[in-house]
Amino acid sequence: MLECEMDFFNRKKTKEYENMTEKLQTIIEDGSSDSAIKKAAQILRAGGLVAFPTETVYGLGGDALSPDAAAKIYAAKGRPSDNPLIVHIADTDALPILAGEVPEKARMLAEAFWPGPLTIILPKKDIVPDATTGGLPTVAIRMPSHPAALALIRESGLYIAAPSANASGRPSPTLASHVAEDLSGRIDMILDGGPVGIGIESTIVDLTGDTPTICRPGFITKEMLTSIIGNVEIDPALIHPSKDARPKAPGMRYTHYAPKGELTVVEASDPESASDPEEAKRVADTISRLALEKENEGFRVAILAAEENSMYYSRGHVITVGSVRSGVTVAARLYAALRECDEAGAEVIYSESFDGTDISDAIMNRLLKAAGQRVLHIS
Ligand code: TXA
Ligand code: MG
Repeated sequence: MLECEMDFFNRKKTKEYENMTEKLQTIIEDGSSDSAIKKAAQILRAGGLVAFPTETVYGLGGDALSPDAAAKIYAAKGRPSDNPLIVHIADTDALPILAGEVPEKARMLAEAFWPGPLTIILPKKDIVPDATTGGLPTVAIRMPSHPAALALIRESGLYIAAPSANASGRPSPTLASHVAEDLSGRIDMILDGGPVGIGIESTIVDLTGDTPTICRPGFITKEMLTSIIGNVEIDPALIHPSKDARPKAPGMRYTHYAPKGELTVVEASDPESASDPEEAKRVADTISRLALEKENEGFRVAILAAEENSMYYSRGHVITVGSVRSGVTVAARLYAALRECDEAGAEVIYSESFDGTDISDAIMNRLLKAAGQRVLHIS
């Protein structure tokens, strides 16, 4: 082939490839636009998948009453199909349609926290397919508060099954671009609602046993739940995670949120003293020493630090995660920070602890999971 012919051939190939990848890219539309919501609702009614913003993290939605849609969700995420999906509703009238029994405590929690970041587990009715609940006789239900999520549920006229819209094992998405990174080409549409407000997934409370039990801590704390329905327990497997402890929520059993590098959480002697500047300096000194050692061994090191402490570090790729005075700001940044570790090619990661902040149960649950429970206590 002549050189000019070769050139043309290569260009043509590139063009074909571009067309092909264009088709493989999932369309991203503005979640605040009525026409985008209408289009997304149509896709869902036709059995397709749409990622949409919620106040916690982005969700990957499909028709909750369709086993085919559930199967597509599991396939797109690469998620084990025994890990049940949360059914999203826009009206409490849906409760008796989906749940076999709606105890008074469920109504009280719905009244207090819906729409909002709380998921309630109840016995399921037959209308909810086993494919959606991973074969469990119970169903997880939540009414999100994000306007785009509510608009989509209402416009579609469906109940929407939606796990977090990340590829299985990756941190949950807090931006539409995170969804695109993980799922572009594998789903039909992404509704962009900008950065989510809370940044970690909803609190899950199981009301099917004698005592209401938190299966996943979140923005709605144990104290907030207790103030409405009295005694609430935390799933013991979450407090003392070990190989033998079996968390009630199947999803809490998998390694999750893990960045590619090996993450260790470094804690002060009194874990709740994270906001004490002297303790923070001692933790930072330890992390700096470890980071230097690892860098000298040739590893790429990232450090997750609170804004107040970032000035203490001169080694490693420092990623700030919010303020020790406000757990809410840490939650909002945590997953993006874990993704940034991967982007920076970090092989070793040290994180400060965020125990002792508000919603620290939820933050430390996610951070310790990402760390595979690796904690270094400094004496
Ligand atoms: O904030 C949230 O809850 C987000 C947004 C999109 O709404 N969704 C979310 O879904 O985090 P996902 O699938 O990533 O996590 C759902 C968790 C999993 O740990 C799953 O095992 C648990 O809920 N779950 C769902 N149904 C359950 C059930 N019937 N019994 C026990 N656990 C259940
Ligand atoms: Mg998830």
